[in-house]
Order: sequence, then structure tokens, then C-alpha cells
Amino acid sequence: MRRRLRLRGDAWITLLLGAALGLLLYAQRDSTAPTTSAPRAQGRAAPGPSPRLRVFQGPDAGPALQAYEEDTPEPPKPTPPGPFDFGRYLRAKDQRHFPLLINQPHKCRRDGVFGSGPDLLIAVKSVAADFERRQAVRQTWGAEGRVQGALVRRVFLLGLPRGTGSDQAEAEGAGTQTHWHTLLRAESRAYADILLWAFEDTFFNLTLKEIHFLAWASAYCPDARFVFKGDADVFVHVENLLDFLAARDPAQDLLAGDVIVQARPIRLRASKYYIPEAVYGLPAYPAYAGGGGFVFSGATLRRLAGACAQVELFPIDDVFLGMCLQRLRLTPEPHPAFRTFGIPQPSAAPHLRTFDPCFYRELVVVHGLSATDIWLMWHLLHSPRGPACAHPWPAAASSFQWSR
Ligand SMILES: *[C@@H]1O[C@H](CO)[C@@H](O)[C@H](O)[C@H]1NC(C)=O
Repeated sequence: MRRRLRLRGDAWITLLLGAALGLLLYAQRDSTAPTTSAPRAQGRAAPGPSPRLRVFQGPDAGPALQAYEEDTPEPPKPTPPGPFDFGRYLRAKDQRHFPLLINQPHKCRRDGVFGSGPDLLIAVKSVAADFERRQAVRQTWGAEGRVQGALVRRVFLLGLPRGTGSDQAEAEGAGTQTHWHTLLRAESRAYADILLWAFEDTFFNLTLKEIHFLAWASAYCPDARFVFKGDADVFVHVENLLDFLAARDPAQDLLAGDVIVQARPIRLRASKYYIPEAVYGLPAYPAYAGGGGFVFSGATLRRLAGACAQVELFPIDDVFLGMCLQRLRLTPEPHPAFRTFGIPQPSAAPHLRTFDPCFYRELVVVHGLSATDIWLMWHLLHSPRGPACAHPWPAAASSFQWSR
């Protein structure tokens, strides 16, 4: 009896120890997952991660979705956004043409005729509810007219507000739908800068936004010398952007931005950017420019529109554009002043202020600003005497450094 009891005790301890070991291994595996999540990458990928390699941070943690790999030793703790239905996505993938509900057919005509397009067409991804950001952009870096002699035009790219396209929404929110449509129509009348397509405006439909915009721009704005495309939560230093473009020929291929090379698909189910191997089997994505803001030439616009029409839809829009570029054998050009991953607070110098106009005047694009901050930064930079900065004005394209 006693022996049996002791035996039973031993068995229990073994079981407990086993369970503890299992838990430990599981926790360890979890905490290293982001760097080892692409097992097939090791075999085939290019030698080691490049120093400029960035990883996606899983959770929807505000605008700073991505971060430099070296800045994030801690793995992201993804908050599951609900499983993405890849099966449905793949089945619906061939439906990629949606009607344009609000158009701006005259956006790029000068005196009513095509022939001499704007020097810079600014296209901003937005959603219906984000009226305040659109207003901030209209009044600041997205203002139309002449900037340093260059003619600037602006459009906002929108889909149907989420839920309003479905039966469920019709049942419960026909009023909401009318409300948004009324707003967008009114905005279109007031500002003539709204493009609205009949697909649902979701994160995974941003690729649809990309191809519809490229098709629209090559149809209605084929003579634009350059196109800037970005998010509504970026700050763009348009003068620096124009300085950079001044030396470029719009008839030549160019796509410049915050270029990410050898990014590995995220195989972590809970991540917002999760891509199963069945959807993308290669160990790394083609080089692409961060979707927060990039610029391309008129020549590239026309070629991209054609190339993207041939590429199968892929749910991450900037990676999709990288696939179109790859098809054209066009390498995106990294520009150090495009900060589409925001400005990480340097861990070694947390006292440095990142919201500093002296700092912003060296950049072209910074991602992750509120409407208020966009407005404030623009006014600080454009106040009559400009910001009082300690050091002389740097060259626009010089590589970025933290000032002391
Ligand atoms: C994209 O939009 C279409 C059309 O509104 C919709 O049926 C589909 O569910 C959306 N896809 C995603 C992934 O949100």
C-alpha cells in the first residue's frame, strides 16, 4: 500500500515536472517566434539579415506599427484581430474591378485640357471617418497650388466605410451609410479631391486601393511629372520633396521611399501581417517601399499601372507594389529622409525631443502624426522666421543623424 502510494507520488512529480518543462519550452518558443518564424528562410534566404531590415510589429498599436529590428528585442504581443479568412480572400481575388463612385475627372487638366499635368500629384489614403486628418492635410502639406513654382494637385483615396456594403449593415445602419455618402459628396463639392470606389475600406483591401488609384491616375492624370502616395497620418516636407525631384527626369523610371529589403513573411497566426505559406511560399518579399509615403515618376506610373494589373492580389499593399516593381525589374530607391516607420525614440538618448521642427526640416516624410501634430509642425516650419535651429540648413538628401 505504502509502496503504491509512493509510486503514485513519483508518478505525479514526474507528470508535474513534465508539464512544467512543456510550459517552459512553449514560452521559450513563443518569445523567440518573431525571429525564427520563417524556418524555411534560413535555408534559402540571402546571407543574414541586412542592417536595414525591419520587422513588422504585430499588434495594432497605433501608428507605429513597424519598428527597426534592433530597436525591438522584445517580441510583439499580438492582439488577435480575428482570424483573416484567407480562403475567402483567395476565392474573391479575381474580383478586382470596382466602380468609381466619386470621380475628379478634371483634377489634372490645366485650362480644361490635358497635355501639361501637375508637377506633383499627391494621393492620400484615407477613410470616410477621418475627416479631421483630411482637413489637416488640405491646410498643410497637401495644399494645392504652386509650391516653389511647382504645380501641386491632391486627391484622397477612399473605399466604402466598413460595414456599409454588407447586408448586415443595411439592416442596422442604412442611416450611417447615407451619412458618410453625404459627407463625401459634400467634401467632393467643396474641395474636389475625393475619389471613392465601391469596395469596402478595410486594411486588406488597401491593395485594391493601390490598383484602382494607379488605373485612375494613368487615365486621368497621365501627364503628372511625379506622384506622391502616402497615408493621411504622415507629415511631408513638400519643399524637400520637390528639391529631391528637381534633379530627376519624369520620363525615367523612379520610385523612391523607405525601402525594405529581404523582409520575411510573418508566419505568426496572431499577427496582423500573418501570411500562410500557402499564400506566399518564398522566404522573403521583394524589395518594397513602406506604404506610409513614397514618390514615383510619371513614367513609372504608367508602367506600374500595367504591371500591377497582371500581378495577383496580395493582402499587404506595399508588398504588393514591390511585386509589381519586381515584374518591371525596377529597384526601388532608398531615401534616408523618408521615415515611414516613424521616428523611434533612441533608447540611448530618450531625452531627445522627436517633435522638433529643426529635426523635421531635414526630412521628407515622417509617419505617425495626429491631425494636430501635422498642423502644428507645418506651422512651426512655415512661420515667417522659421524655427530657430542651432546648426545650418542641411542638404535635403543627406543621411539623417540625431543632432546633439
Ligand atoms: C474588399 O471589398 C469587397 C467589396 O466590398 C468585400 O466584399 C471584401 O470582403 C473586402 N475584402 C476584405 C479582405 O476586406
